[in-house]
Amino acid sequence: MFETLTPMPADPILGLMTKYREDTHANKVDLGVGVYKDEQGHTPILHCVKIAEQHRIDTEETKVYIGPTGSASFNQLLGELAFGQDNPALLADRVRTVSTPGGTGALRVAADFIKRLNPNAVVWVSDPTWANHTGLFEAAGLSVKTYPYYDHDNKTLKFEEMLSALSQVGKDDVVLLHACCHNPSGMDLTTQQWDKVIELTKQQGFTPLIDMAYQGFGDGVDEDAYGVRQMAAQVDNMILCSSCSKNFGLYRERIGACSILGRDSQSANVAFSVLLYVVRCIYSMPPAHGAAIVETILGSSELKQQWLDELKEMRDRINGNRVMLVNKLIEKGVTRDFSFIAEQKGMFSFLGITPQQVAQLQHDHSIYMVDSSRISIAGIGEGNVDYLAESIAKVL
Ligand code: LMR
Repeated sequence: MFETLTPMPADPILGLMTKYREDTHANKVDLGVGVYKDEQGHTPILHCVKIAEQHRIDTEETKVYIGPTGSASFNQLLGELAFGQDNPALLADRVRTVSTPGGTGALRVAADFIKRLNPNAVVWVSDPTWANHTGLFEAAGLSVKTYPYYDHDNKTLKFEEMLSALSQVGKDDVVLLHACCHNPSGMDLTTQQWDKVIELTKQQGFTPLIDMAYQGFGDGVDEDAYGVRQMAAQVDNMILCSSCSKNFGLYRERIGACSILGRDSQSANVAFSVLLYVVRCIYSMPPAHGAAIVETILGSSELKQQWLDELKEMRDRINGNRVMLVNKLIEKGVTRDFSFIAEQKGMFSFLGITPQQVAQLQHDHSIYMVDSSRISIAGIGEGNVDYLAESIAKVL
């Protein structure tokens, strides 16, 4: 039976991790997968996570099943972090949340949930979007189409074209939006643009699905949730997929959440029963370790403050790297304008070079980035920025 299979290509993002690890070049640079790195190129465990993890080890009394929802306390605290404590949707008891195995788990739960809402639903994703979005929705049997988003030539948002495409989307379909730190472009909607998208969502009646994998990496925890909070306050139905991989640095613990918003408390309960059924059919119950860490942090004002400080440190370093790279390219004599990198948000930007130049950087200089020229800004540091800028100057 297995003889009928044909090999799949390596994942465009995760495949880079293996290649980078195997490269023995002394100056190799990893701008591939979206993980935070410090100046030494190390992905640290946050101090607040260490404390919360120790607390869990000291106090945990059983490993018995929790159930498909995961920890109720985690779900509530993460829901408040995303929607804001005083969000009218939360106050009206219209939100239901399940813990999931990472943000990808949340998206897969959302995909199967949508398949049950409407097997023929089209999921509209931005062009471009995270490389895994399309495969993930198609794996759930849904069709995926794109709406215009990033203008590669002008390094701006194709906002009018985006609105015009979304104004053709009907009430049976789903539109995926990135809450902040758009992956892969780093190009976010402004608050005014969010307001317009929300108006259009109400007008067209499609279901918004917001992917929030980087809350706190753009402008701040509250600022980055503007679209999520406004959308939740104004629409009848919505799906939110959150991840704790980046902002809590809990990558391998696989913890995230899928929240659904019903028109009222009763319809939220019905939708929730479907969500739980979906969870049971995919992985039965989510892992508990990461959730326990996050709920300990968010449940303690002291640890929460420490987390916010550590998150700010990560955000500031990434923003600093953006400016540092732009300046260094100028210093190395590059005349092409890369100033857009300093203006974009979050972990990623496109360098805007050709796939051949990307391949050359990898082959000749051991600099790793996604074929699309998406770079993970966190991989830049004072120790490698000269080499990086010189190498980019050479391939240009
Ligand atoms: C990325 O885009 O690099 C991250 O979200 C990691 C992943 O799973 O692709």
